[in-house]
Amino acid sequence: MTKNDRANFGSKLGVILASAGSAVGLGNIWRFPYETGNHGGAAFILIYLGCVILLGLPIMIAEFLIGRHSQANTAGAYQKLAPGTQWRWVGRMSVLTGFLILSYYSVVAGWTLEYIFEALTNGFAGKSPEQFIASFQSFSSNPWRPILWLVLFLLGTHFIIVKGVEKGIEKSSKIMMPTLFIIILVLVVCAVSLPGAGAGIEFLLKPDFSKVDSDVFLGAMGQAFFSLSLGMGCLCTYASYFNKKTNLTRTALSVGVIDTFIAILAGFIIFPAAFSVGIQPDAGPSLIFITLPNVFQQAFSGIPILAYIFSVMFYVLLALAALTSTISIHEVVTAYLHEEFKMSRTKAARYVTAGCIILGIFSSLSLGVMKGYTLFGLGMFDLLDFLTAKIMLPLGGLLVSIFTGWYLDKKLVWSEITNDGTLKVPVYKLIIFILKYVAPIAISVIFINELGLLK
Ligand code: PHE
Repeated sequence: MTKNDRANFGSKLGVILASAGSAVGLGNIWRFPYETGNHGGAAFILIYLGCVILLGLPIMIAEFLIGRHSQANTAGAYQKLAPGTQWRWVGRMSVLTGFLILSYYSVVAGWTLEYIFEALTNGFAGKSPEQFIASFQSFSSNPWRPILWLVLFLLGTHFIIVKGVEKGIEKSSKIMMPTLFIIILVLVVCAVSLPGAGAGIEFLLKPDFSKVDSDVFLGAMGQAFFSLSLGMGCLCTYASYFNKKTNLTRTALSVGVIDTFIAILAGFIIFPAAFSVGIQPDAGPSLIFITLPNVFQQAFSGIPILAYIFSVMFYVLLALAALTSTISIHEVVTAYLHEEFKMSRTKAARYVTAGCIILGIFSSLSLGVMKGYTLFGLGMFDLLDFLTAKIMLPLGGLLVSIFTGWYLDKKLVWSEITNDGTLKVPVYKLIIFILKYVAPIAISVIFINELGLLK
């Protein structure tokens, strides 16, 4: 494939919104709140912000420059930039990570479809918090229903991928992202005005450092990588569709700001809502599926039609946010098979979808009938989440920073970040310093600390 055959995003806004579409997803609205809840609230958020600024943004710029310079899928990128070296394994690991994430992420994405269905058929009306808990548990452990939605969601993703993503992703992101934002703002207002919401706001704003242990650092770092779509070549693959004029530093900053802002806003919906109905913030992966239907019922208890409209809109948007992310993950693996194994895009996509459906089915069943089958005490779903978000993504990030900071030719890095010297990037030296020293050391220390070797 020559350079000119490669697809390109059409506009600057398209680049930002497509990348933000990848970043903003279930990670912000589903995973961030429950990780924050599990790790004690505000102190976790502060450490998370530190991870985004210190590790996330520089590593995002590094992934961007690797992708744009090589104009190839993530595995091909390392082969082009470091031919004949072991660096190719970094790209291959990225593809594997993407495949694993897609398989369990789609399970949760599938849940959003069930909730759209419930909302559309007015299934939330008149339920008590206990009933919401019970119905989520019976749904997620049901052997059939979640699998049906999972397959449907992956087929939807597949459909867009085989059509060629650029027009689809770019156009839909331009509509979906602003809409998502407006809905979130409205929901924040509803949630913080619920009776008893104050305790939730306090949980978000008052750091309790007594809860901070090595787990909190690993959790925050993993969440930063997961939420920013880093460490698995996703933004690297997207950047291979950027043009030469794209300002990589500014794009990374925009994506980072949008992603973080939406995660924090999601916190301002979930925690006030959870505290207001007496649900513990550490309810885990079920948190938003229990608290949110409740918010709508309570906030609009006198006006059922509004409760109905908001429920439907919220779950539609959650599904769309998830979809822009699943597309971006699917694209990593599809582009790899398509370019490296010279198979057609359609055929490549078929393998990815089929493989993810199979693995996804096991993930889904591990929350129900296969609960008893565990490895290291974790079922398949939890194991995949732990392994990818807390190990493989940070490890990928570590290797990306070493690759860019130490291995790549300095001139190449400079000319990508400054667009051949045409851009002034005042933080250039800082970016390089972080990639060379701060990121590799910080990630290693967090890993070593978690393994308990420092104690
Ligand atoms: N960033 C996405 C989210 O927050 C998930 C994702 C992870 C997407 C890794 C791509 C790569 O939902």
